[in-house]
Amino acid sequence: METNKKSSFSGRLGYVMAVAGSAVGLGNIWRFPYLAAKYGGGIFLLTYIILALTVGFALLVSETALGRKTGNNPIKAYKMLGAKKLKIGGWLNSIIPMLIVPYYCVVGGWVCKYLFEYLRGSSHLLTQDTYFSNFISSSMSPAFWLIIFAILTFVVVIKGVEKGIEKVSKVLMPILVIMAIFISIYGLMTPGAIEGLKYYIIPDFSNFSIMTVIAAVGQMFYSLSIGMGILFTYGSYMKKEVDMEKAISQVEIMDTLIAFLAGLMIIPAVFAFSGKDSLNAGASLMFITMPKVFDSLQLGGFIGLVFFLLVLFAALTSAISLMECSVATLMEQLHISRKKAAILMICEMLLLGIPISLGYGVLGWIQPLGMTLLDFFDFVTNSCMMPIAALSTVLLIIFVTKISTVSDEVKISSAFKREKIYNFVMKYICVPTLIIILLSYILSTFGIITL
Ligand code: PHE
Repeated sequence: METNKKSSFSGRLGYVMAVAGSAVGLGNIWRFPYLAAKYGGGIFLLTYIILALTVGFALLVSETALGRKTGNNPIKAYKMLGAKKLKIGGWLNSIIPMLIVPYYCVVGGWVCKYLFEYLRGSSHLLTQDTYFSNFISSSMSPAFWLIIFAILTFVVVIKGVEKGIEKVSKVLMPILVIMAIFISIYGLMTPGAIEGLKYYIIPDFSNFSIMTVIAAVGQMFYSLSIGMGILFTYGSYMKKEVDMEKAISQVEIMDTLIAFLAGLMIIPAVFAFSGKDSLNAGASLMFITMPKVFDSLQLGGFIGLVFFLLVLFAALTSAISLMECSVATLMEQLHISRKKAAILMICEMLLLGIPISLGYGVLGWIQPLGMTLLDFFDFVTNSCMMPIAALSTVLLIIFVTKISTVSDEVKISSAFKREKIYNFVMKYICVPTLIIILLSYILSTFGIITL
């Protein structure tokens, strides 16, 4: 029986590509550009980068170091580190990926469907205003595409850490970067795109508000896969000789770079196509606005195809990380093989995913808290559980293991250059930030503030 302890990444590159694969996902490609557009363009970008380098860095290091130190999933890691009152944190960190992966696969399925339409040359259909809503509310199609995406994820995870996840990430991630650069350059050449570019990269301080910070913090957690058990598990696969700080810096750079490029792909092109206001389309930007933009470009069919392929790769490597962490937890907690754990997980993904995928159509009458099923799962995991899970890890480090446990783990393989920043952020910044984000998410869901 394969045990988790034997699994590991071959070295730093494998680790960086796999964690970047987790981090770079739908969050970077559709969420970041529309948040950046909505919350002040350049000033949002600047706020985001500062946050990623401070709070994001501290939490990435914390979770990875605890994962590597204990060599275990979050439940066991918390136990080994002596967390008595905070035990719930370990459980939350382990359960969150199991709850995210079903609905993440639903959106992954939508991406597969769009890619399929580009491949068979019917991309023109996608430009109809009602195409997207007709598709997600149709009776079977969303479930069919969810199953396709979930099977793709399953096939990689069952192969294991080095032969499956590492191998796939090492191929997909560099291709993804190249495709993103290509589309950005193409988009920037559209007439009128430069105005959009200016808005996107030049900070205008008059656009700054507290909402800029709140939106940037939330995006940072989601985008870096923080507070979701992922970094613990991938940290546990990191060999002791790998330079942890360097690996984490590279993940941060890659994640931010892709988010930045996604903004470059989308903002100037949409700006030129239909003006700044259409960037507020939010979630529908990727599925409704972008196909229209591509349709208006020369070679648009091809560019759209490359774009959706890129989105598919990004979504797939993220889904793989979510499923892998869940599989690792099941293997260790239930003492079962990887194969059995992966089969259990795909059953769970389909069992929850199919109703979620039908939540815009035949199951549209199920509306917990007045939300669609997908929004509900997103709300519970990202807005409620994630800040609590991240907060528990911070409290665990401050009160139980002490900050030096993390620094010592980092220093096993290298000097800890950003140790001062790390200590400061952990002591004074993380707790208030996490509490603010938890409250603001909940208040905005109930319409008390607008995010
Ligand atoms: N970080 C991923 C993104 O940006 C989303 C994700 C969250 C992936 C949690 C795994 C775990 O899309």
